[in-house]
Amino acid sequence: MSGSRSIRDDIETVLVTQQQIDDAVGDLASRLTEVFADRNPILIGALKGAFIFFADLVRRLDFPLEIDFVVARSYGNSTVPGCIDITTDVSCDLTGRHVVVIDDIVDTGQTLKALVAVLEERDVASVHTCCLLDKPERRRCDFQPDYVGIVIPDYFVVGYGLDFSGHHRNLPFVGVLRPELYSSSDQ
Ligand code: IMP
Ligand code: MG
Repeated sequence: MSGSRSIRDDIETVLVTQQQIDDAVGDLASRLTEVFADRNPILIGALKGAFIFFADLVRRLDFPLEIDFVVARSYGNSTVPGCIDITTDVSCDLTGRHVVVIDDIVDTGQTLKALVAVLEERDVASVHTCCLLDKPERRRCDFQPDYVGIVIPDYFVVGYGLDFSGHHRNLPFVGVLRPELYSSSDQ
């Protein structure tokens, strides 16, 4: 291995440090514990972006819970909102259960809004949403996550699970990509 190429060279600024992430995860864990400690919830991680946040968060929770995962992508727009393609669905029965969807970031809000609508049709006891990051300036629908770690400005960010074109998920912090790397893309 040459070791000369670092994905850190693609980062213009560190927007959320590892310490800030750790503090936010701890705060979210406390808030979830207050509400769900006696409800035996199912936490559903939205892949791929939530994989690191999900793993860190569940290790800060010490009450009974189950986990599952979903892979979903929204294709809604202003004229056809709320359409979602669930390419990998949860494997457990959600009937009567308290569900908490865990995601990396809320951007337009369309993915989580549509996913919540699908889950609510499954005779669940409740559906809540928990996201590490929120970009409210980008919202294109009336969706507000129930639990938010950190509100950030309208930057395209990578790291701690978030990717650009499949890469940079393995950075331990959340950073802003150097603009010249995505200027030809609309995210
Ligand atoms: P939505 O626009 O709220 O539906 O977000 C859909 C998904 O896009 C999120 O769950 C993320 O996985 C991804 N996403 C949104 N904003 C960013 C970003 O700044 N960096 C990387 N991925 C993002
Ligand atoms: Mg996501």
